[in-house]
Amino acid sequence: MDWDVANAMIRAVELKDLSTAAHTWRVTLYAQAVAEALKLAPENVYQFMQAAALHDIGKIDIPHGILAKPGRLTDEEYEIVKMHTVLGHERLVRMGETDPTLLTVVRHHHERLDGSGYPDGLESDMIPQPARRFGVIDTFDAMTSIRPYREEIGEEAARASLAELERHKGTWYCPHTVDLFHSLYDSGRIDWILHHFNDKADLSALGAVPDPDRLEMAEDIIKQTEQRIDDSTPE
Ligand SMILES: [Fe+2]
Repeated sequence: MDWDVANAMIRAVELKDLSTAAHTWRVTLYAQAVAEALKLAPENVYQFMQAAALHDIGKIDIPHGILAKPGRLTDEEYEIVKMHTVLGHERLVRMGETDPTLLTVVRHHHERLDGSGYPDGLESDMIPQPARRFGVIDTFDAMTSIRPYREEIGEEAARASLAELERHKGTWYCPHTVDLFHSLYDSGRIDWILHHFNDKADLSALGAVPDPDRLEMAEDIIKQTEQRIDDSTPE
């Protein structure tokens, strides 16, 4: 998908659910780190990053009142939120999107290896590989995002999140990706992403769009990746 189209769609989700704005950029940067550690070809790194950036695109179709609800969701509301996977996938198909990485990450990023996830309850290898990989990233970020009740994001939150991923490694989460992500964190390579739009000042990001300078920085990284693909593609 053309980056400008992707960007417009991301902005539409951000307007709908402001708390996801920072999340979108962090998972995109984690996806880049994971894809590069896997030594994927530049175009596949880009595809995985774009899939990460667009993974919750289906939230465009979820009522704002549910996304922005401050308290606990009812069972019925939660079932509606779960629909964002299918709705996002359908939206992309209607747009003529054919990239399997993008389509499968959007539809299957909440599946679990033991089949207890959604929307299709797929098990182990039936879950497409990019979606299995992305599920680890999404979970880590969800557990290490600043919240009104979570004072600070740092080493402690990251360790707790990694421990949670380890606990469900093989039952819910792709073991290979959990190991890889764990080693990337231990090496200090992705620590800066953890703090990206994720410090105390960004608590206000739950009610406002995060610092545009830093959003631009994340966009620049994606554009650089796009450029690398162009540069490496023979004429
Ligand atoms: Fe999601």
